[in-house]
Amino acid sequence: MIIVLYDGTSQKVAQAQRIVMSTKEAKRYDRGVWLLEVASLQKLRQQLLAAVHGTVLEIGMGTGVNLPIYNGVSFVAGIDLRPQVLSGALTRENTPPFGVSCANAHHLPFGNGRFDNIVSTLAFCSISEPPLALAEIRRVLKPNGRFYLLEHVRGQNPVSQRLTDWLQPAWFALQHECHLNRETAVTLQASGFTIEESSTHGFGILQMMVAKIKIEE
Ligand SMILES: C[S@@+](CC[C@H](N)C(=O)[O-])C[C@H]1O[C@@H](n2cnc3c(N)ncnc32)[C@H](O)[C@@H]1O
Repeated sequence: MIIVLYDGTSQKVAQAQRIVMSTKEAKRYDRGVWLLEVASLQKLRQQLLAAVHGTVLEIGMGTGVNLPIYNGVSFVAGIDLRPQVLSGALTRENTPPFGVSCANAHHLPFGNGRFDNIVSTLAFCSISEPPLALAEIRRVLKPNGRFYLLEHVRGQNPVSQRLTDWLQPAWFALQHECHLNRETAVTLQASGFTIEESSTHGFGILQMMVAKIKIEE
């Protein structure tokens, strides 16, 4: 399989690597979240992505679950650390034009101000250094662009907050990279973003946000 690096304008800039792999891991991932998707995530994804337009970067694209949901975007560049899950994206149908890169959100392989919109769904729970990734997202987002997020976060009400704090150590030990109680909205604001829209879902553990780059006064 060939994973190709794109510069976000559908122009192929480099052939990154040829990787021999199976799509087993991608299929296992999709099966693992199937119930959650049907129960609520699909609807929230549709809601989040309805306004996304232009040239889009998706952070932690995984198996490309969002790809068939985009409507009217010109190009989606997807990045993920793991080629095994990205391979799932390459098998999706009814997608807009897209390219995938095996890349780390901490060091995005794109020029400054390349993207109209950036999307992250359920990725900021597992990115190891969120401030580093957010600095990179600020750099590659157009000054008037928007950053769309759907993340599972530290509970937003007293009960779900206690639950996510209590479960976090065992969850992290099992999952290795996924944090149950991250306060992504706080990190986002501390990293130079203004949150324009925010709503919570799923008993207060899912948060949908639209953010833009904070204008310094
Ligand atoms: C829970 S999955 C979510 C996948 C997809 N966005 C979705 O909505 O189903 C999180 C993804 O983030 C990726 N990831 C974690 N840290 C990353 C990093 N530093 N850079 C790029 N991708 C990362 C993981 O490999 C994984 O595929």
